[in-house]
Amino acid sequence: KFRQSPLVSAWPEELIARLALDIETAAAKAVARCGEFHLALSGGSSPIVLFQRLVRHHYGFPWRRTHLWLVDERCVPLADPESNFRSLHDHLLQHVRVPYLNIHPMLVHLNRRLCVEEDQGPELYAKEIAALVTNASLDFVLLGLGSDGHTASLFPHSSSGLEGAKTVVLTESPVKPHQRMSLSLPLINKARQVAVLVMGKGKHEITTQISRVGQEPRKWPISGVNPSSGQLVWYMDYDALLG
Ligand code: 6PG
Repeated sequence: KFRQSPLVSAWPEELIARLALDIETAAAKAVARCGEFHLALSGGSSPIVLFQRLVRHHYGFPWRRTHLWLVDERCVPLADPESNFRSLHDHLLQHVRVPYLNIHPMLVHLNRRLCVEEDQGPELYAKEIAALVTNASLDFVLLGLGSDGHTASLFPHSSSGLEGAKTVVLTESPVKPHQRMSLSLPLINKARQVAVLVMGKGKHEITTQISRVGQEPRKWPISGVNPSSGQLVWYMDYDALLG
């Protein structure tokens, strides 16, 4: 699976420049098609350089027509440095003009019980997606890959979020913060375009391991990322690719 997907590989700066351009192209197409662009972003450190690139070099980006969704979130207060929304806010939202109503944080931070005990956080997010995104098909989903093999907040050796009708799920991370909310694999696979951004030597071993398996989402959720009618592209820097 991994080997068959298109792969863009370059030095980090060039890689990020290419990804930013591909997102802008997807945005322009979506806006031309239906007047809006639905972009779902992962947390972690790699997207931060992408955000900086978009802010500094893409003045024509249609931010006012863009809806920003989260791929996943950690169940921590909004202002916590571990919050993916906080990172998105600090590195992107502070610098570009996305209309307030187009910003869609995952509601894990308002009331911890809401998310953890009642499953309402995922339900609310699923409803929001269903109400605003045609056929729940996001235009562009940016994924990362953890060195333990997780993607979004779907973790190896766990079946949460891999199949079934739920589009948003609660999951359990082996490392803190343990409680997470994540888009499910079936929802990710409905997207028009999925990008997997992998950077740094620390990712070489896991990408090598994953490249050896076929579709084994239970072992490696990323191997189940296979958009049914969309496109999947891996963006890897030379360190991640070559070690
Ligand atoms: C999260 C993420 C996660 C991330 C990977 C890669 O909240 O932890 O969304 O899936 O994409 O852990 O993270 P890095 O970009 O930091 O390597």
